[in-house]
Amino acid sequence: MTEQTNPNLLPTSIKGVLQRILVVIVGVLAVALFLLWPVFSNSPVDYADIENHFKYGSIGSESVNGIPYWIWKVLPELFPEKLPGKDYTSLGITWEEGKEMPVGFTKKTIGFPRVGITCAVCHTATYRTKEKEKPTIVTAAPANKFDSQGYLRFLSATAGDSRFTADYILDEIKYNYRLSWLENLLYRYLLIPQTKKALLQQKEQYSWTDSRPNWGSGRIDPFNPVKFNTLKLPKDNTIGNSDMMPLWNQKMHKGFALHWDGLETSLTETVQTGAIGDGATKKSLPVADLQRVEDFIQELPPPKYPFAVDEQVAAKGSQIFANTCASCHAFGGERTGTVIPVEEVGTDRHRLDMWTQEGADTYNHFGDGYPWDFKNLRKTNGYVSVSLDGLWLRAPYLHNGSVPSLQDLLEKPENRSQVFYRGYDVYDPKKVGFITEGDKAKAIGFKYDTTVTANSNQGHIYGTDLSGEEKKALIEYLKTL
Ligand code: HEC
Ligand code: HEC
Repeated sequence: MTEQTNPNLLPTSIKGVLQRILVVIVGVLAVALFLLWPVFSNSPVDYADIENHFKYGSIGSESVNGIPYWIWKVLPELFPEKLPGKDYTSLGITWEEGKEMPVGFTKKTIGFPRVGITCAVCHTATYRTKEKEKPTIVTAAPANKFDSQGYLRFLSATAGDSRFTADYILDEIKYNYRLSWLENLLYRYLLIPQTKKALLQQKEQYSWTDSRPNWGSGRIDPFNPVKFNTLKLPKDNTIGNSDMMPLWNQKMHKGFALHWDGLETSLTETVQTGAIGDGATKKSLPVADLQRVEDFIQELPPPKYPFAVDEQVAAKGSQIFANTCASCHAFGGERTGTVIPVEEVGTDRHRLDMWTQEGADTYNHFGDGYPWDFKNLRKTNGYVSVSLDGLWLRAPYLHNGSVPSLQDLLEKPENRSQVFYRGYDVYDPKKVGFITEGDKAKAIGFKYDTTVTANSNQGHIYGTDLSGEEKKALIEYLKTL
């Protein structure tokens, strides 16, 4: 009888059946392993250092919306013609020396390494005091260079290319890295086709942006994707293009309305909706990790102006500020951090009109049944008189980033720059803002035309009647905030 347990001695028909059963068992095990793999290998991306956590730690965006690391890694090499320059940094993404990922990107293993974005991709800036200087990276500053629309469009364009195939992509991956047998199968049969499908779906989800003005460097339409994709509200024709905001010093902003139009009043909810807006899902929202981010931005001080300040002139400017601006902008000012009606401030109203009561109501029910919850979203009728801490690094100014410098902001709208280039990070201490003219700015920057819908630089005429000397003094003071 012992011979019969030796498969080699079995009649060929039985052998065939057993082989088929074996193949099925191995197949089932492989699928089960794949499905369960995330459970075992969900390596948390924990950074003890809070600044690294802010820049590189997961905010839950990769569980559904993550891109398999190796695909993400080789796309710029495979499709360089779809990028404005050499690699991801040509989209205004900052890459610190010696780091595996760029600032604002996280690599997290959920079954396989995936790439997601973090708050820092939109909330970290760089500046240079002169052209030939290593950029200084300022955490939590509004990302002045990042072209988020360019990033989305690059990914969609690669997926729409007929060369986006397992053969083409795996060849390049293997050139960089030795995939294991299982990884190879996973990438070939699952991840590459799935990623292509998901990126094409994303392209479809963002097709409404094609008929609206471009965001350009340092701007994004942050809430229309939430309305249309997350809350599943019907597409409308609004344009919500807005400038990135700084996140520092939140403890001094206690009680202020949040976002340009004050559509939120709770910082915790603003942080959590920030993560949802970036692709975290109800299930993946990492409440404790986001609490760390919130604690960090409460205490983080605004950056100091990196050039000399004439203290005497600034002292004069501080008086002018007290008389002309403080009621809306100083800490403790009676209207600071409140919503100023749009008719009063007079700036472009598109961003305000983008958000709706329906959007607020739907979002307030979004977390029903979860341990976290939203209840402070609302519809307002104007823009927040934001505090001006770290103002020097917040250029271009106003909610749509339509005014390149403080000097321009104190000019009447008709005398402000009509066309300028955003996204070049060399600073201009004369006008107090980034350099937005000249060949270098043109070569790198996004052409901002104030005559384009939603780009208007009208309104906020406070201080425009001051004398030349008073304006100089006021600007000197504003540098110190
Ligand atoms: C894709 C870009 C992007 C990402 C990523 C992003 N934000 Fe923002 N954030 C913005 C923009 C743009 C605004 C201003 C939006 C508006 O009101 O129109 C903003 C506003 C805010 C504000 C309001 C600030 C104020 O003073 O009113 C907070 C707080 C904030 N973000 C926190 C976060 C946190 C925390 C994360 C990560 C969990 C995050 N954001 C991720 C783009 C982004
Ligand atoms: C009546 C209230 C009010 C007064 C007075 C006022 N502002 Fe404003 N300020 C606002 C509002 C509201 C906004 C946001 C408007 C927008 O973005 O559309 C704003 C925005 C700004 C910004 C842009 C901030 C950024 O991050 O882009 C600057 C700079 C500024 N104000 C400076 C001043 C100065 C300087 C004065 C005094 C000469 C002044 N403001 C007077 C209400 C006021």
